[in-house]
Amino acid sequence: MSARKRFNAWLLGVLDGWFHRMVGERKAALLGGLRGTVVELGPGAGANLRYYGPGVRLIAVEPSAAMHDRLRAEAARRGVSIEVVRAFGEAVDLPDGRADAVVGTLVLCSVRDPAAVLATVRRLLRPGGRFVFLEHVAAPSGTPIRWLQAALHGPWRAVFDGCHPDRETWTVIERAGFVDLHLERYDAPTLAWPIRPQIAGYATAPTRDNP
Ligand SMILES: C[S@@+](CC[C@H](N)C(=O)[O-])C[C@H]1O[C@@H](n2cnc3c(N)ncnc32)[C@H](O)[C@@H]1O
Repeated sequence: MSARKRFNAWLLGVLDGWFHRMVGERKAALLGGLRGTVVELGPGAGANLRYYGPGVRLIAVEPSAAMHDRLRAEAARRGVSIEVVRAFGEAVDLPDGRADAVVGTLVLCSVRDPAAVLATVRRLLRPGGRFVFLEHVAAPSGTPIRWLQAALHGPWRAVFDGCHPDRETWTVIERAGFVDLHLERYDAPTLAWPIRPQIAGYATAPTRDNP
């Protein structure tokens, strides 16, 4: 396990309370109503476990082994049933239609291939299942924050484990073939300008009646 991966696991723990204050209310509203089998992609050290309702069976797809002990400990602390799978969201060895819901928060900024991850989300969801997302994204072109995001891109990626501060993640979600996409843009209440522009929402996997 590399020192960098251990550093990132430690950093997520340090920043946990800050993220909770910044986006906790939104996460609680999006995640609290989910039921059944939930696949979470990139759960890190388990920041979202506090928001899940009772009875959720969580399958946590987390490529960094440095997160796994913290993730299991957080699940035990919160009484959440958990199965940890070590995989990247681009290639997850779980059966089609396994999930009632798939969750990804603050993760599409870091993955290598967002379109491939969205294809996994579609594959794992049962028809009518829900994809829930919350992401920091690129600011509108020509704005000072977009300029800052571009200027910081290299060092930001190096410090924050491959995170791209200026991804237009909404375009990939819009093209992923969901129905009933609810996507809200907002400015997060933080002075950390590069991650201030955010999107959050949910979308439904197509069914025969709603293709
Ligand atoms: C910034 S953390 C977000 C943690 C948590 N989801 C949250 O909302 O605080 C990003 C997480 O995504 C994971 N990750 C990075 N690349 C990934 C990939 N290709 N597939 C799935 N997870 C990935 C990282 O290991 C890390 O745990």
